[in-house]
Amino acid sequence: MSVIRIRGLHCLEGEIRIQGSKNAVLPLMAASLLHRGTVVLKNVPGIQDVNCMKGILEYLGCVCEWNAHTLRISTEGLNTAVIPEAEAGRMRSSVMLLGPLLGRLGEAVSHHPGGCSIGRRPIDLHLSALRKLGAEIRVEGDRITASAEGLRGSEILFPFPSVGATENAVMAAVAARGITVLRGASVEPEIEVLCRFLKKMGARIDGIGSSTLMIEGGQPLHDVTFAVPGDRIVAGTYAGAVLAAGGDVLLREAPADHMGAVLHAMNRMGGRTELLPEGIRVRMDGRPGAVCLATEAYPGFPTDLQSVIVAVAALADGESRIRETVFEARFASAKELQKLGAHIIIEDRTVRVDGTYPLTGGSVRAADLRGGAALVVAGLAARGTTVLTGCEHIRRGYEDICRDLCSVGADMEYGTVAT
Ligand code: EPZ
Repeated sequence: MSVIRIRGLHCLEGEIRIQGSKNAVLPLMAASLLHRGTVVLKNVPGIQDVNCMKGILEYLGCVCEWNAHTLRISTEGLNTAVIPEAEAGRMRSSVMLLGPLLGRLGEAVSHHPGGCSIGRRPIDLHLSALRKLGAEIRVEGDRITASAEGLRGSEILFPFPSVGATENAVMAAVAARGITVLRGASVEPEIEVLCRFLKKMGARIDGIGSSTLMIEGGQPLHDVTFAVPGDRIVAGTYAGAVLAAGGDVLLREAPADHMGAVLHAMNRMGGRTELLPEGIRVRMDGRPGAVCLATEAYPGFPTDLQSVIVAVAALADGESRIRETVFEARFASAKELQKLGAHIIIEDRTVRVDGTYPLTGGSVRAADLRGGAALVVAGLAARGTTVLTGCEHIRRGYEDICRDLCSVGADMEYGTVAT
């Protein structure tokens, strides 16, 4: 079994180039199906979820060439709308193929998506949006069968800003005849990136960046080359690592424009963040201070960094309170932190953390992607060695967390333990 071993209490100095965004590139890969032609994506992160999505596109008949960080997708050969169950179950993003497949082929067969176990994660909003656009959808157990004679523009009101459901609806609306208005849409940066990508491909979308999107579907689409922005969650993870371990690190190409709430919270904890043309400089001397915050939809503090901020709070000077408002079961890593000596009380969707420094190295297990990264952050501030199992979760979203953190002085490596 693969593990990550971390010998803590080394401060971090230097710079890390931030990889392209996982949650931006996956919908772009799905959206490429809308156009019978070629899409070239640049700054594509070398992560497991991209590999999985590439495999699904190739299974569907596309040709994908991935060299370094450039991914070329040719969709002329698209010849089936059936997504293999095993692949659909490996990540949440498989559900985002429903909209583009309905738009391109008029049908889609998939299965309930996989992804991090951080809550029930239903897909009712995805299905209701696609039905509003004219799709007939049957759900039998985990199997989803969708068909549409031709998608038609409609007005859709989201009861709350689901990121994935907004992305699915936008992609389907681009292929639908007529006007679609999405109200209460998610305004996460990844939605803006998707809309800019689709506009560059020829789609007509107004209201980009707002919660009301108007899409005039049925426009002719053409080949496009598009650069994926830096990953704000990876950048926030590494900023958290600097707060935990101390030091001075430049996060090159970090998307500062989309990290306001994250940087504000870290400054409140005593971090010193500086916006530079080339990225974000993060400095930390001594222990971080406590923080009280709640995760929220953008532009609030992102749920994907809740586990990381809890890890930093575990060693902070004082009592922190962090409330998770987006997912109902996202405290798995908080429980693991207790094995490293953290004083954490979990009360429904809030954690109370009485910081202690340093933590004590121990054996912990990652149960999900961001929780695993948070346990790495905690290990950097633990005396002795921390052994992290379940690190395959981390590779889904981080190109190489050991490479990145070792490049600025962390003492950690991949290893194996006998199973
Ligand atoms: C996206 O997931 C991200 N994943 C998640 O990142 C992120 O945490 C989440 O948005 C929130 O920002 C990708 O982009 C691949 P939602 P998504 O639909 O689209 C409920 C990571 O670590 N809901 O906004 O699944 C849902 O259960 C991952 O990179 C419904 O009830 O998020 C959750 O409680 C983890 N019905 C809430 O809405 C639906 O039809 C927010 O989910 C859809 C969602």
